[in-house]
Amino acid sequence: MISDPSAPTDTIPLIVDVDTGIDDSLALLYLMASPEADILAITCTAGNVPARQVATNNLAWLDLCAYRDVEVAIGAEVPIVQPLMTTEETHGPQGIGYAELPAPNRPLSTRHATAVWCSLARSRPGEITGLVTGPLTNLALAIKLDPELPRLLKRLVVMGGAFNHAGNTRPTTEWNIAVDPDAAKIVFDAFSGLPADRRPIICALDVTERIEMTPEHVAELARVAGSVPAEVISREDPAGTRSSASNRVVRHLSDAVRFYMEFHASHDQGFLAHMHDPFAAAVALDASLAEFMAATVDVEIDGTLTRGQTVADWRGMWGRPPNVDVVINTDPAEFFRRLIDRVGPYARAVG
Ligand code: RIB
Ligand code: CA
Repeated sequence: MISDPSAPTDTIPLIVDVDTGIDDSLALLYLMASPEADILAITCTAGNVPARQVATNNLAWLDLCAYRDVEVAIGAEVPIVQPLMTTEETHGPQGIGYAELPAPNRPLSTRHATAVWCSLARSRPGEITGLVTGPLTNLALAIKLDPELPRLLKRLVVMGGAFNHAGNTRPTTEWNIAVDPDAAKIVFDAFSGLPADRRPIICALDVTERIEMTPEHVAELARVAGSVPAEVISREDPAGTRSSASNRVVRHLSDAVRFYMEFHASHDQGFLAHMHDPFAAAVALDASLAEFMAATVDVEIDGTLTRGQTVADWRGMWGRPPNVDVVINTDPAEFFRRLIDRVGPYARAVG
């Protein structure tokens, strides 16, 4: 896959690994709407929904936005050790909430996701940022194929884990890690020993559960997109309400997010949607959006109650050097300003 030679020279080449998902969808929209994002490939892992559905969702979003050709490759369809668990109750039967995207026309890559990771990293050593917003299965398998991968990437940004914060899957575990804890351990171990400016950036629930998308954010994005009528998602709407937005990106985004807001409300988190993945995408494009603290992170593999817990040693008690930069703070309002300022005009242009 050759990136667009006419792209601005200050673009950021990315491999994006997702388990699309409602918030993964918003992450893809954020990146497609960001001129500096040079998406080299999108790789699909099983997580929110099975990998083949993830791939269909990715292709469909690219088609809906008439985005340039990007390699979309399927990878792991099951975790490395444990059986696959999916969460259609969170993201909808197809993983995109109530949205019903037109069936995609563009083809799926014939390459496996791990081959895409390894060949791209080898072809552009030190240049590519990896972004993973789903389970780490594909990346772990790619590292098994090419142990040099952590040193070939410029940076890695991961949405996953929970540190001083309750889990969203089990009491101490976050979904992406809980789906494949063994893969997460392989990745965190493999990325140990890198220079401080190359340490993976981890966007965990501690911060991503502060990125709360509200109906007002959707309404403002729709307004910027020039969509009519005003896009109002209300908790009082009849079940199964669908958007009538004139703008197709707004229409499908709204239908996707509405499902997520209903899910959060049903779990007493408010009528809102945690934008875990687009926040990680925004950090991948501009790390200055977040504050970090270095830590040595490992993953509990054997715990009866805690398997899949991400454990951070902030104070060197294990005698092992820090291997990640954990995001400890951000300005959610600044994130939403960027999201609306990018996706709103992009949606307007797509039509
Ligand atoms: O825990 C939140 C993460 O799990 C997000 O990436 C969401 O898409 C799900 O994959
Ligand atoms: Ca995800």
